[in-house]
Order: sequence, then structure tokens, then C-alpha cells
Amino acid sequence: MCGIVGYIGKQKDIRIGMEALKRLEYRGYDSAGMAVYNKERKEIDSIKAVGKVASLEEKLRSTNFEGSPFLFYTRWATHGQVTEENCHPHADCTGNIWVAHNGIIENYQQLKQELLGEGHVFLSETDTEVLPHLIEKFFTGNLEDATRKALSLVHGAYALAIIARDDSEKLVLAKYSAPLLIGLGDGEYLAASDPSAVITHTNKVIYLEDGELAILTPKTFSIQNYQQELVERDAEEIEWSLEDAKKGGYPHFMQKEIMEQPESIINSLRGRLLLDTGDVRLGGLEQVQEKLKNIEQVEILACGTAYLSGSVGTYMLQEYTGMPTKADIASEFRYKKPIIDKKTAYLFISQSGETADTLAALKEVKKKGGLALGIVNTVGSSIARETEAGVYNHAGPEIGVASTKAFTSQLTVLALLTLFLGRQRGMSFTMGQRIAKEIANLPVLVKETLETTNAIMEKIAIKYQGARDFLFIARKYNYPVALEGALKLKEISYIHAEGYGAGEMKHGPLAMIDENFPTIALCPSDSVYEKMISNIQEIKARKGPVIAIATQGNEDIKTIADDVIYIPKTLEMLTPILSVIPLQLFAYYMGILKGYDVDKPRNLAKSVTVE
Ligand code: F6R
Repeated sequence: MCGIVGYIGKQKDIRIGMEALKRLEYRGYDSAGMAVYNKERKEIDSIKAVGKVASLEEKLRSTNFEGSPFLFYTRWATHGQVTEENCHPHADCTGNIWVAHNGIIENYQQLKQELLGEGHVFLSETDTEVLPHLIEKFFTGNLEDATRKALSLVHGAYALAIIARDDSEKLVLAKYSAPLLIGLGDGEYLAASDPSAVITHTNKVIYLEDGELAILTPKTFSIQNYQQELVERDAEEIEWSLEDAKKGGYPHFMQKEIMEQPESIINSLRGRLLLDTGDVRLGGLEQVQEKLKNIEQVEILACGTAYLSGSVGTYMLQEYTGMPTKADIASEFRYKKPIIDKKTAYLFISQSGETADTLAALKEVKKKGGLALGIVNTVGSSIARETEAGVYNHAGPEIGVASTKAFTSQLTVLALLTLFLGRQRGMSFTMGQRIAKEIANLPVLVKETLETTNAIMEKIAIKYQGARDFLFIARKYNYPVALEGALKLKEISYIHAEGYGAGEMKHGPLAMIDENFPTIALCPSDSVYEKMISNIQEIKARKGPVIAIATQGNEDIKTIADDVIYIPKTLEMLTPILSVIPLQLFAYYMGILKGYDVDKPRNLAKSVTVE
């Protein structure tokens, strides 16, 4: 897990790499490193630092490193402790070959034993270090040939950027199951794990595909498959600007991303709703439109927050399309010996489009001939490319590690998909129009919710900051939102929190409740409101403090709950898009009160490219 940057071209200023790396820090941030070829001395200089990218920047200030090509790297440890020795780029025995790697080499132990037996000396505990040594073994002056031979022995996932002192006019890249692209600049190439890193240099990028090797020189580049056949691919244009990827005046990306949800939802809806006819146009699904008419079930596969949006989607799709719909955690799916059914649509949801567990589940479905569809935010990402068809979120880059605007965008797209599939299956024109109208009004309601709950949630966080544990409860559409509220609080404030279906309280969790254990109860005025009130009463009877998220106009709830936060009224299936907002704000303010880095919670990374 990490971010990689590679450069080759007319400039010698390594700050280019530093700036690019800063924008990849969300992918990992426990240590960082770099290596650069110095033409005068014909040597590769390298330096590494434990900590965030800023620590590397600080160390680099005391050097006079410059040159081309160079590699930069930010790490999120998978094999070995967080130390300078374990940080990339890793070198071979003689300091000739240097490798930056994102992914995991699964057979590294066996390869390492063989290489040790042949006399290679290892300096780190990482899986990656076998790569420079393997390339060294095959190196006779041509870096791409040696790399190709080395990779034929490797199992696992990798995005690689490689340079060599003794073939110094090249930057070699290779990709398998981890993201890598080439930014095409003016007399220079910048390779990176994602487009935000290259955007100040160019908006033209080429995404490498699995099994491809790219050979970049200062003036030219070529892409080959492992059989050495040339691959021709047009460059794509990156649509978003650098400003999109910056904080836009907010102190944290997380707050910026929470506050920009009205806009991100507008972007997810743009051009898709047909209000007059109560229909939806989803261009990305056109090629599978006929196949979709024949499906009888939907299975949603995703991880973390994306899984929870998918769980809300199961309620939406089942209620309005009549199709049995279930959601599963992608990391568990494979172990169930999945039976892939031709009448099922498998829907993969992912913000990054790179989550290894989701990607692995997708490959399993594809291998067995299932119809794989995606709801993905990152254009050109692995999941977007591997799925047969899909819908992009267009929510813009999400940089804060905790997913916020991607969640509401996923719910919005799931609502669109529900309408789309529902109308294909006999949903009435009137119902279609009603849902379409409510969906179209979401940006206004989200804006209102942010305006009315922002300051209150800060106060609620202050009031309850001493609590050691929190419970989040809800039913039906809001049940997955309760789980999401607990997940958000855990990851941002490190406070213990649990989400429960409110009906489950009496089957065990109620035993935990006392005056020190607050519960956040999602109880909008919907079809399960009365039942929620009974569950809240059960908590109050045990002296548990209750913070209720209720629908505007509900005055009664004030007589039961200790604190009430109001959200606007909307269709029951759309309430999660509003009810999650105070929970996001609560987690944010709690994290700030505790003094934590809310954009980069400890132990986590934005893009989880390991299984
Ligand atoms: C939580 C969070 C994670 C991600 C999960 C899936 O705030 O961000 O739980 O939702 O790692 O990531 P994607 O959506 O990129 O597949």
C-alpha cells in the first residue's frame, strides 16, 4: 500500500517529485523515500525518512540532490516495521537498480531464499526487496529486459517504477493489479499511482493495463505487453483541476468534503434524471441495457463505507424493483465458494476503484461469467476498467481518508439505479416521477441539513466528548447509516462505537446501557418510527442518554430524547442521504476535539490495495 512517482525528462529539479508525492500521501503516510540518478557522478542518490512526506522533504533540504530519472515513494506498511530500511525505493546489491513498488509480492519468501542462496544481500524485511535483486540477477545492460525476466517469476500485485545507474536513460514501469499511469508532459514524463500527482504538469494521461511494461526515455515512450508486443493507447484527459484536489479554504479535506456534498450530489445527478417521464438515463449502462432486463437478482459487493452504502441500496432495490437484493463484504465473498448466477447482476461499489478485496471479488465473478457492474468514483481505476459496465459517481476526488461525499454520492447513484431498474420492471409513471422529483431536490435538502446541523453537531461533540463508548441504532433504510455513523466515529476519533439494528438491542446490547453510555438514535418520521420510539424508551428506562436524529416538525421526540437534531423531510428511501450528515459532522468534530489528524487517521490509508 503506497503511492509511487517516477520522473524522466528535461528537468533535474526533484521538487517536482516531492510535490507530486504530497498529493499521493492519502495512499499511505508512515514513511517516504526517493532515489535520483546524478549524471555527473554516475550514481544514484537515495534518502528515506520515517513519518509523513514532510519528513522526507525536510531531510531533502540538507542535500543537493538533483537529476533525472528519479523515483518518489510514500509507504503504508504491509511487510515489516515502519523503518527507513523498509521504506522504498529498494536497491540491489550494488546500488544499480532501484525499485518503488505498490502491491504485494506473494511468493517473495521463496524468491528471497533462492536469492540469498545465490549470495544476494538483503537490507529490509519487505517483500519488495526481492525485485531489485531479481532484476539484478538478469541485468546485462538493458533494464526492461531484466525487469521482464524478473516479473515472469513473480506472483502477486504490483505497480512498479524502476531506474538503473547502468541504463540511466530509462524509467521502466510495470503494472499488475495495482494502479499506474503515465502523465505526458512537455519534454518529460511523470508516472504515478493516480492522476492527482501529475495534474500540475499535464492533464494527459495513459493508464497502464495489467501485464504491461512501459519504457520511458527523456524523449519517447513505449508500452509493451509481456510478450513484447507493442501496445497503442490514446491518452485520456483528466477532467478535474488541481484546485479540486486541494482544501478549498477548509482546514481539513474531511470538512471540505462534508460541506461540498450538495455540489458532489449535483455532479452525480447531472444529465441523468428525466423529470418529465420519471426515468433515468445512465449512459454507462446502455451497453448492458438488454441484459439488465433479464436479471432477476442483484448482489452488491464492496468494503467499508462503500459496503454500507450498498446495504442501503439493498433496501432501495428490493422495495422498488421487486428483485431479491443482497450485499456482502467483498473480503468474505470469495470464501463462500460463490455460486455465480447468470440472472444476477453483481454490483461493485468503490470510491477509489482500487480496493484489493473488491477487485478480487470482481475477478472471481468475471471468471465465472457473471455480469459485473460498477459504481465507481475514480475514472479509469482498476474496478472501473474491469467491470463490464457501470455508473461513475463524478463526486470529484475524495482526499480525506474517511469516506464522506463518496458515501452520499453512492447512495444517490443507487437511488438512480433503483429508479432505472424499477421503471424497467413496471414501476408506474407516477411513482417514477415522484421519486425523480425527490432525488432532484436532494442537493437543496443536503445543503439545508448542513446549514442547520453543523453548529449543533459541534456542540453535541463538546457535550459528549468525555464518553468512552457510543451506540448508534436505527431500523430499515437507516440501519446501515447507524453502522456508518459508528464506523466514522471509530476511525476519526478512535472512540469505541457500535452500530446496531434497533430491534437487536433487546437481544443483548441493552445490557451495556447506563447513564455513561450515549446512544445516537436515527428516527426520522418513516414507516418504522413507532418501533424506533419503543427502542429509545427501552434505553431511557436504563438511564442511557439519547441523541435523536428526527424529521423537522417532530416536537414529541423532545420529550423523550436528551438532544434532538432535525433533518428535512424526504422520501423514506432517501433519508440516509440526509441522516448521515450529522453523523459525519459528529465524527469530524469529535476527532478535532481530541486533537487528531482527521484527514489521516492512524493505521489507515485511503486506497486499500492489499487484501
Ligand atoms: C471509511 C472508508 C473505508 C472505505 C473502504 C472502501 O471511511 O473510507 O471503509 O469505504 O476502504 O474503499 P473504496 O470505496 O475505495 O473501495
